[in-house]
Amino acid sequence: MNIQKNYMVGFAIMLFASLNIQCKGNQKEEKSTEVTDTQKMEIATIEKTAFGTTPEGESVDKYTLKNQKGMEVAIITYGGIITSLKVPNKDNVYEDVVLGYDSLAKYTKSSPYFGAIIGRYGNRIAKGKFSLDGKEYKLATNDGPNHLHGGAKGFDKVVWTAVAIKGDSTASLKLTYLSKDLEEGYPGNLKAVVTYTLTNDNVLEVLYEATTDKKTIVNLTQHSYFNLSANFSKTILDHEIAINADTFIPVDATLIPTGKLTDVTNTPFDFRAAKVIGKDIEAKDDQLKKGLGYDHCWILNNQNEGFKLAASAYHPESGRLLEIYSDEPGIQFYTGNFLDGTLPSKTGGTYAHRTGFCLETQHYPDSPNQKYFPSTVLNPGEKYTSKTSFKFSVK
Ligand code: GLA
Repeated sequence: MNIQKNYMVGFAIMLFASLNIQCKGNQKEEKSTEVTDTQKMEIATIEKTAFGTTPEGESVDKYTLKNQKGMEVAIITYGGIITSLKVPNKDNVYEDVVLGYDSLAKYTKSSPYFGAIIGRYGNRIAKGKFSLDGKEYKLATNDGPNHLHGGAKGFDKVVWTAVAIKGDSTASLKLTYLSKDLEEGYPGNLKAVVTYTLTNDNVLEVLYEATTDKKTIVNLTQHSYFNLSANFSKTILDHEIAINADTFIPVDATLIPTGKLTDVTNTPFDFRAAKVIGKDIEAKDDQLKKGLGYDHCWILNNQNEGFKLAASAYHPESGRLLEIYSDEPGIQFYTGNFLDGTLPSKTGGTYAHRTGFCLETQHYPDSPNQKYFPSTVLNPGEKYTSKTSFKFSVK
């Protein structure tokens, strides 16, 4: 019995050591490391598997990052998509809390940005046009008259180069993509780097970095659809949301900012104290009507604090709490209003209306055309950085 136990421990240590792998593109360097029993407790793991081939013939890998507690995130190199995210409920049962698909073919066929990295510009740009130094740039109009989430082939639809990095108690995946000058109409060769890091405190950190060789615009975000119940056939209307914002950005009928800001007081948009999504979502309100529910950007308070608590989501039944920290000035809260029961769920059935919500940290929509919004311009020689953390716990 003892021999068997020792053998099992030894095997686990060897397995941890062999998983200390650095993967670059298709090259694989294996580092053998000596692991002591105390270090073993700290070790997070990274596993790489093939996830398929795009219709253009590019191979796509899936990386599964796991921490010591058992929290697990799977990310594919296509779109940097988070395909699954397993976090504990109050009974310490780990379950997947993000919407997505079980195969690459489903992602390439049609996806409402499930779990993806969004770029070069998250959210909308009016009429797909903007100017820099008097020169007008034209982008795809892929959302009615407007440009949405980077265009026809945004960062959610390209294959990123991945490097897995193991820290003492963290597991990271560094994704890099070079977007060529005028790709999707945007000026400059833009080198984008997005690093996902899973820590032992059940935090998934997303660090966005970019540099350019010509003046351009950038606004990167993450488009995970959460359902903290882990039951994708249930709506998210019972989740309690808090958004640390006194104002939000009203939009026109095509979801472009009107240029005004609205105080949330006495409106369905007041989430300063945690409120169940379903409470006001059907209220008679012009903005809710335009968004078909919540699909708006809030102006975060305490912007001088830099990295701050932006929003939280709590699911009372499971006890799961998600807190989102960010250094961005805004957060788009979208309640899955366009989900309509046509897309296949990874657990069987389909994704019905409002079975997932997104909290997308970002600069404000249409900033390049809105004089009073903070700038999204990136100049050569500058570095764009933005950080968002998704912290999971139970209460
Ligand atoms: C964003 C937009 C929504 C919708 C979704 C994807 O959150 O604001 O209007 O386009 O992406 O369906």
